[in-house]
Amino acid sequence: MIVAPSILSANFGNLQESIKKVSTTKWLHVDVMDGHFVPNISIGPVVVKGIRNYTEQILDTHLMISDPLKYAEEFIKAGSDRITFHIEAVENPFAVINLLKDLQVKVGISIKPDTDVKVIKHLICCIDQVLVMSVEPGFGGQKFMNNAIAKIEELNTLRNTLNKNLLIVVDGGINEVTGKLCLDAGADVLVAGSYIFNSDNPQKKIDSLR
Ligand code: DX5
Ligand code: ZN
Repeated sequence: MIVAPSILSANFGNLQESIKKVSTTKWLHVDVMDGHFVPNISIGPVVVKGIRNYTEQILDTHLMISDPLKYAEEFIKAGSDRITFHIEAVENPFAVINLLKDLQVKVGISIKPDTDVKVIKHLICCIDQVLVMSVEPGFGGQKFMNNAIAKIEELNTLRNTLNKNLLIVVDGGINEVTGKLCLDAGADVLVAGSYIFNSDNPQKKIDSLR
C-alpha cells in the first residue's frame, strides 16, 4: 500500500520544509488546478520544477485542468513522474494517453464522484492507474464520499481481466477510518492532504494510514 501525501495542504510559504516532513513516502501527490476545470487555482510547472530539485519522491501529478493535452509535456519536463488527467476534461482520451506514453511517464485517469467506472472501462487496458475522487475536485479538507467504495470494488474486479498491473488510487477525505475502507475495497494508493499536513506530526499520520 502506498501513501501519497497531497501537498495541496502543505505550507506553501515554506514548501521545502513541509515536504521534508513527509520524506519517508515513495510518492508525493501534486494537485494542479487551473481555475477552469475546477473553481480553484493551485500550482504550475515552475513549482514542480522547484520541488524536483530537493526530492527524489515520485511526483504523482493530478491535473485538474481543462486541457491536459496542451500542458502535460510541461509538467513532465519539470519533473513529473506520473500524470493523471480527468476523463471529464477530454474529448479524445487516447490522444492524451498516447502523448504521455510517448513521453515515457506513467498514465492515470481520474473520475469525479458523479462519473461511473463504466465510462473508462475501455481505457483500463491501456493505463497505469485510475484515480477515484472521493470528494468533488478543487479543495482539500472535504468529507469523504462513500460512493467511492463501490467504484474501487468495481475497478478491483475489472482489473483481474483487463489489466493486472492497474493501480487504484483514491483521493479526498482520507483519514485512518476512510483509508481502511478504501484498502479493504481494493485501493493501492491513499492520497491524503489535510489529514497528514494539518498535524504537528505528519509522519505519525502517515504511519497510522499504513
Ligand atoms: C482535491 C485534491 C486532493 C486534495 C485532498 O481536489 O485532488 O488531492 O488535496 O485533500 P484532503 O486529503 O484534505 O481531502
Ligand atoms: Zn489530487
